[in-house]
Amino acid sequence: MMTLDNTYDEAELREFHARLVKLLGTDDLAYTVEPKIDGLAVSLTFENGRLVRAVTRGDGEEGDDVTANVRTIRGLPHTLRADGGPSLQGGSLKAETVREGTTAESGVSPGELPLFASEPPPSGHRSTGAGFPALIEIRGEIFLGLEEFQRINREQEEAGLEPYANPRNLAAGTLKLLDSAEVAKRRLEIVLYGLGACEPAEPAPSQSAYLARLVAWGLPVVEKFWVVRGIDAVWSAVLELDQVRRGLPYGTDGAVVKLDRLDQQRLAGARGEGQSARKLSPRWACAYKFAPDRAETCVRSISIQVGRTGALTPVAELEPVLLAGTTVKRATLHNSDEIARKDVRPGDYVLIEKAGEIIPAVVQVLLAKRPGGLAPYVFPTVCPVCGTPATRAEGEVVWRCPNPDCPEKVRRRLEHFASKACLDIDGLGEEVVALLIERGLVKTIPDIFRLRREDLLPLKKSGEVWAGNLIAAIEARRRADLWRVLNGLGIPQVGAASSKDLAGRFRSLDALAVASEADLLNVGGIGERTCGLIQAWFAAPANRALLEELRQVGVAPTPPATGGAAAVLAGKTVVLTGTLPTLSREEATALVEAAGGKVSGSVSKKTHYVVAGEEAGSKLEKARALNVPVLDEAGLRRLLQA
Ligand code: IVH
Repeated sequence: MMTLDNTYDEAELREFHARLVKLLGTDDLAYTVEPKIDGLAVSLTFENGRLVRAVTRGDGEEGDDVTANVRTIRGLPHTLRADGGPSLQGGSLKAETVREGTTAESGVSPGELPLFASEPPPSGHRSTGAGFPALIEIRGEIFLGLEEFQRINREQEEAGLEPYANPRNLAAGTLKLLDSAEVAKRRLEIVLYGLGACEPAEPAPSQSAYLARLVAWGLPVVEKFWVVRGIDAVWSAVLELDQVRRGLPYGTDGAVVKLDRLDQQRLAGARGEGQSARKLSPRWACAYKFAPDRAETCVRSISIQVGRTGALTPVAELEPVLLAGTTVKRATLHNSDEIARKDVRPGDYVLIEKAGEIIPAVVQVLLAKRPGGLAPYVFPTVCPVCGTPATRAEGEVVWRCPNPDCPEKVRRRLEHFASKACLDIDGLGEEVVALLIERGLVKTIPDIFRLRREDLLPLKKSGEVWAGNLIAAIEARRRADLWRVLNGLGIPQVGAASSKDLAGRFRSLDALAVASEADLLNVGGIGERTCGLIQAWFAAPANRALLEELRQVGVAPTPPATGGAAAVLAGKTVVLTGTLPTLSREEATALVEAAGGKVSGSVSKKTHYVVAGEEAGSKLEKARALNVPVLDEAGLRRLLQA
């Protein structure tokens, strides 16, 4: 799944149009303007009209299978309605006319494009679908309504738990729950707007006709969108959407402008072709971001947060204020230079801003409202937690606590190590880490692996099950993937992506510890600065001691599977068909062969995999008939990495 380019003002939006005019050789272009829903992108696959799979966008190439949880969403039918369904005029779908002469018309004359076989030609916007494609991947957005978000947070607070930061995070967390019955208790909602794979042919000639088709099948779509001609009408629609968006049931931080005709979309193609799917962005669509919501409030005080690396981040503690649907009590002030530049003082009235999921920030002080006698803020010279004098490296804006034993750094280090992106230790979240530290049970990463069931039992009332589960979760991670351990160690500048690269190249902590500069620089994505930081990290006696202790407590990281792709496809036959999104036929063949596989031209019972791209035809059908596993390009790449 691709990602959209953003535009922030009218001029940028006009440039988007100008590029398309040049590319397509006509300025008579029809667009749809839809709300940009602030939720989680998902892809739903329907086979013969039945919902068979729901997958989150993830990184664009690989997401989570959330089928069971998505099935709990009310308002999402599990089977498509086969009969015609409501017409645009009569149904819940409202396309708006923005200006005279820019009516909701798909702009495609009947017969111009191949339509799905059983469908009569479209007449304006009326949905006429009597059937549905054998296979269709329908994309959209899952979200939580603001009221439901507030209800769940009230419950959360009543139970003494931390409230969720925003509806999007809560929706994401909900989708990941293991118990679908729990998911069903939270009223997730969904709207659909996009088209992925579709066989045997596209279901409609245009985006607007496609939306009508979705309605006819009984699926929920955006309740308001505009179909317009020309960029002036696009701009009017965007402005109108900005006026009405707060009345929509979901958060919207922008408009999505799409070329209406699918044939023109195809002609326009995507930027970043030849790269990984996660970097692709369509030339036929863009997002227009509305100015972020702002609110006025008072700074009660300024507190300092100590991060895992010791960074001291100033935070404004605010008079609670409602902003973009959530109550904001804190906003970041970034660093001491920023406070000085904006001259923020405790007691000041300020303007705060929130754009999408970004943490709220203080934009400016309302000087006219400044009460008399406020003293300028003086940034602390010592760590507020452990009292160690703070230091600031040359050329850096950030002050840090240099004390490796600072309790706050210790806590954050442990949280990070156990977090999803690192060891992913189930049940070892913020609260439990804090509890274990408080009881003196853990102080260092190796301490986690020294925990015994007996240590945990006294911590909770009837804690047997909890203690057993936590110990089992920790046990299961002694042989965690090497990259996870690396990411968890918190080597400066080494995140998940670099950790994966380093793990693939060096395959053990010992090998990495002695890697030469040349070896390190040979790893894609590692530059000179990071290389120096890695070497310094492994040279520090405290870190050497940490690695030794990890070994002693039985942590033995698992390197990536041996041989990488070398043997994955040994003895296997693969058939390539259709156009793959980023790989040419030659490149795909080379990859398969490098993994020991053979590429064949025809599908038989002996074929192990069919890799199908766009416009795959009879080979794909034959694969399905013979029950041969079918992969897309992303699936092939995953297989090669296995
Ligand atoms: S069309 C290239 N339409 O915005 C992807 N996306 O940055 C084409 N989104 O990941 C997406 N509302 O999650 C489209 N009406 C809408 C949307 C929408 C929200 C999200 C989507 C996508 C992100 C793009």
